[in-house]
Amino acid sequence: MKITLLIILSILTFLSQLLLSHSTRCNPQDKKVLLKIKKAFNNPYHLASWNPDTDCCQWYVVDCDRKTNRITNFHLFAANVSGQIPPAIADLPYLESLTFHKITNLTGTIPPALARLTNLKMLTISWTNISGPIPSFLSQLKNLTFLDLSFNNFSGAIPQTLGELRNLNGLRLDRNKLTGPIPDSFGDLSPTLQYLYLSHNQLSGSIPRAWGDLNFTSVLFDRNRLEGDISFLFGKNKTVQNVDFSRNMLRFDLSNVEFPDGLSTLDLNHNRIYGSLPEGLAKLENLYLNVSYNRLCGQIPVGGRLQELDYSSYFHNRCLCGAPLPNCK
Ligand SMILES: *[C@@H]1O[C@H](CO)[C@@H](O)[C@H](O)[C@H]1NC(C)=O
Ligand SMILES: *[C@@H]1O[C@H](CO)[C@@H](O)[C@H](O)[C@H]1NC(C)=O
Ligand SMILES: *[C@@H]1O[C@H](CO)[C@@H](O)[C@H](O)[C@H]1NC(C)=O
Ligand SMILES: *[C@@H]1O[C@H](CO)[C@@H](O)[C@H](O)[C@H]1NC(C)=O
Ligand SMILES: *[C@@H]1O[C@H](CO)[C@@H](O)[C@H](O)[C@H]1NC(C)=O
Ligand SMILES: *[C@@H]1O[C@H](CO)[C@@H](O)[C@H](O)[C@H]1NC(C)=O
Ligand SMILES: *[C@@H]1O[C@H](CO)[C@@H](O)[C@H](O)[C@H]1NC(C)=O
Ligand SMILES: *[C@@H]1O[C@H](CO)[C@@H](O)[C@H](O)[C@H]1NC(C)=O
Repeated sequence: MKITLLIILSILTFLSQLLLSHSTRCNPQDKKVLLKIKKAFNNPYHLASWNPDTDCCQWYVVDCDRKTNRITNFHLFAANVSGQIPPAIADLPYLESLTFHKITNLTGTIPPALARLTNLKMLTISWTNISGPIPSFLSQLKNLTFLDLSFNNFSGAIPQTLGELRNLNGLRLDRNKLTGPIPDSFGDLSPTLQYLYLSHNQLSGSIPRAWGDLNFTSVLFDRNRLEGDISFLFGKNKTVQNVDFSRNMLRFDLSNVEFPDGLSTLDLNHNRIYGSLPEGLAKLENLYLNVSYNRLCGQIPVGGRLQELDYSSYFHNRCLCGAPLPNCK
């Protein structure tokens, strides 16, 4: 009796496993598109696991939604893949996250078809050799919360329409060859934007006044050709924590600027900033400051971390003095 039961049980287990292994979650339409993408990339070794006889929800690089079984994530990372982004990718209508990262041989421009992926929340194209202008059609991806186009070969101006992405938390356009002024309409950025990285481009002109109303956490703009005044980014009740405008051409009086308590990085080296260091800097307990290579004068305020910082945070100014620089005369 017991033995029969055991046999029946093991047969049932075997059958259910057999059934499970054959229950394909993959949507046939999505599978067709993925195989098209594999072919467009010339059947690379990296996508060797994309076997048409298996469930595409199990394939490397992609993820399916638990309920709908549609492809929602596509993350191609550090792959030896050559060519352009296949427009077929836009035929995965349920994609929410799309990444091409560290693919040296990915070239060409961003295909206009991508504008159809309106469910996208995250789009990353970084460390590739993709070039051309940053397309203005990206503004049609209204659900984007994160757009990362850093470390590529993009050139031309920042499209004004990116300001229409009202749900963005983070925008990275750093390490490209972007030129021209930041258009005033770009000042109308998403109020939810916290991270804005534009470092290592060739952007010129001043930054939009309207950015003073935004609640940034990090604004990294180093190594551009930006001019003018950025003091409106600061103020007692601002949220900003990390600010890097080093190696630009800013020119403003720092003397009366108030800084928020949460400020932890303020790098302004290599600009044309004048006036003196405000006393308020001495109240910040956790500050990395670098104001070297400017036109500042007067005594370095005493307190906070200001004396612990290396003298190279202050050197090459007009007449800054006091510890860690030599005493004032
Ligand atoms: C890039 O393409 C070249 C020429 O096709 C090839 O030799 C090289 O291995 C590729 N590199 C990578 C990282 O894919
Ligand atoms: C990349 O793939 C190409 C062709 O598929 C191959 O010739 C080359 O050796 C590969 N490079 C690396 C770094 O794997
Ligand atoms: C772009 O391609 C060049 C060679 O063609 C390579 O040296 C460089 O690393 C590539 N850039 C990126 C970001 O992959
Ligand atoms: C944005 O996402 C919501 C659900 O999160 C969806 O209902 C809406 O259609 C999406 N917007 C666009 C423009 O597709
Ligand atoms: C990068 O862009 C420059 C023009 O800005 C172009 O001359 C160069 O060929 C591009 N490099 C690649 C790998 O596409
Ligand atoms: C910024 O934060 C303050 C206080 O946290 C809030 O009152 C204000 O509405 C926020 N501004 C934006 C543009 O979100
Ligand atoms: C700081 O916040 C108060 C109210 O929360 C507001 O009235 C004031 O305008 C703000 N000051 C600055 C400089 O933003
Ligand atoms: C401040 O910036 C200057 C210029 O880039 C650099 O030489 C120096 O090492 C920096 N100091 C610190 C403490 O980071």
